[in-house]
Amino acid sequence: MEKRELLYEGKAKKLFTTDDSNLLISEFKDDLTAFNGAKKSSETGKGALNNKISTELFKLLESQGVPTHFVAMLDDNHMLHKRVDVILIEVIVRNIATGSLSKNLGIPDGKVLPFTLVEFDYKNDELGDPKLNDQHCLILELVESTQELDQLRAMARQINDILRPFFKEKGLNLVDFKLEFGKDADGNIILADEISPDNCRFWDIETGEKMDKDRFRQGMGGLKVAYEEVLHRILGEHS
Ligand code: C5P
Repeated sequence: MEKRELLYEGKAKKLFTTDDSNLLISEFKDDLTAFNGAKKSSETGKGALNNKISTELFKLLESQGVPTHFVAMLDDNHMLHKRVDVILIEVIVRNIATGSLSKNLGIPDGKVLPFTLVEFDYKNDELGDPKLNDQHCLILELVESTQELDQLRAMARQINDILRPFFKEKGLNLVDFKLEFGKDADGNIILADEISPDNCRFWDIETGEKMDKDRFRQGMGGLKVAYEEVLHRILGEHS
């Protein structure tokens, strides 16, 4: 399967058409951005690591019955996947308070939440991805019904119920993460985008060390080593 036209260039990926109108290719870039694009950098090899990590996690989720857009990893930086109509809602799942939750609501950083929190953010860079409630989602026509919002929440919890114990076994706390969904050619809601340390927070269970994009957001360095360690642990090469 070959790349044809560039359809869209995002902050972390380029999207290409293929000779099959139902399939697209994502090219994972080495670019790093934070704070809605205000902080920018690049890390050679980061794109390939995210492609490999996402591939493993999509395969795991598919094997547990979660429908995803994943079709195949083509090479280090390219993933073949289904074309979807993207739902412009970023579904945020949180097990432990940190980041914007702690900042906005004053919940102590590191507090384990009494239950898993699922939130919706508007996928809109111009507006700075504001928080949405169900009524906002319906007024903005981001989904067709409340049932679809319930389905997004249910799928997000199902994904968390698979990933959280999976990472615990690998010595990592899955603190929080962002998911994106879309509708496939048959109108079914499926998981899209990527699942990588760019959009998840992982804390080492023993040391508390951050193993994700917060290393870039907070100027800590060592991002690539951390992403490599996440991939090794996923592959069962826990050192
Ligand atoms: O910044 P905040 O605490 O809201 O982030 C929650 C989770 O969602 C983090 O894992 C972060 O990486 C992810 N996220 C993302 N893209 C965004 C906003 C948040 O991947 N635009």
